[in-house]
Amino acid sequence: MSAKIIDGKQIAADMREELRQEVSQLREQGVTPGLGVILVGDDPASRSYVTAKERACEEIGIYSDDNRLPSDTTQEALLELVERMNKDDKIDGILVQLPLPKHIDEATVLLAIDPKKDVDGFHPVNVGKMVVGEKAFLPCTPHGILQMLSRSGVQTKGAHAVVVGRSNIVGKPVANLLLQKKDNANATVTICHTGTRDMAYHTLQADILVVAAGWPNTVTADMVKEGAVVIDVGVNRVEDETRKSGYRLVGDVDFESIKEKASMITPVPGGVGPMTITMLLYNTVESAKDRA
Ligand code: GUN
Repeated sequence: MSAKIIDGKQIAADMREELRQEVSQLREQGVTPGLGVILVGDDPASRSYVTAKERACEEIGIYSDDNRLPSDTTQEALLELVERMNKDDKIDGILVQLPLPKHIDEATVLLAIDPKKDVDGFHPVNVGKMVVGEKAFLPCTPHGILQMLSRSGVQTKGAHAVVVGRSNIVGKPVANLLLQKKDNANATVTICHTGTRDMAYHTLQADILVVAAGWPNTVTADMVKEGAVVIDVGVNRVEDETRKSGYRLVGDVDFESIKEKASMITPVPGGVGPMTITMLLYNTVESAKDRA
């Protein structure tokens, strides 16, 4: 069997068209959704994510306030900028790109963002609301994954979903969303991580396998059940002299061999990535609707 490729780019394009129309209606009412973007330092991957996010805002009519700060920016200066954005009525959402330089305490910065503008869904208030199933800004990558599954007709109810990775950004929240007693969730969830003794034992039982390990080839075909749905969250740069850039992007799973075994699989690039950005736009538009 050759797996159906879940086209994240297409699903994202469909959603962005819906959002573009909502933004246009908001603007007619005099409300232009605004996103404050903060990048500290010059990590190339973070820089390209932030550029993609700003471009996506522009394409659908969201105003973005772009702040690129040097890597020696103090925590105090960063907190001041966050505070200014908290008070700025033109800003509906604040995005502080992670990771931050080591001298800045990430938790302190995330806590400083007004939960009503926390379009990343990383503030503990939004994390807590998500866990108890209350309305909240949902973190973008996990929410995007759920959208991809439902828009691809994947039945999550009663399915065994295995998540590889326990980060606060992807692993923990996607596991949480999948287990909620809600539509497009209601799965039995297992989380694997670096302390897991026999990862293949667990991954082989997955009807839905979400891999967010941050390492290429973490999951190989022998670790996947025939017919499973595989969601690859990884974005890894590997050297490739045939490319002008000198690198290419690969995910966390061995795509070529797994696509012969899975029923559906997301590619890298063009899978989860475009959905993450789309859900950021979605949260920003939702926040602007609250303002309107
Ligand atoms: N770094 C990696 N993923 C993300 C994300 O979704 N949001 C932010 N702010 N930083 C990230």
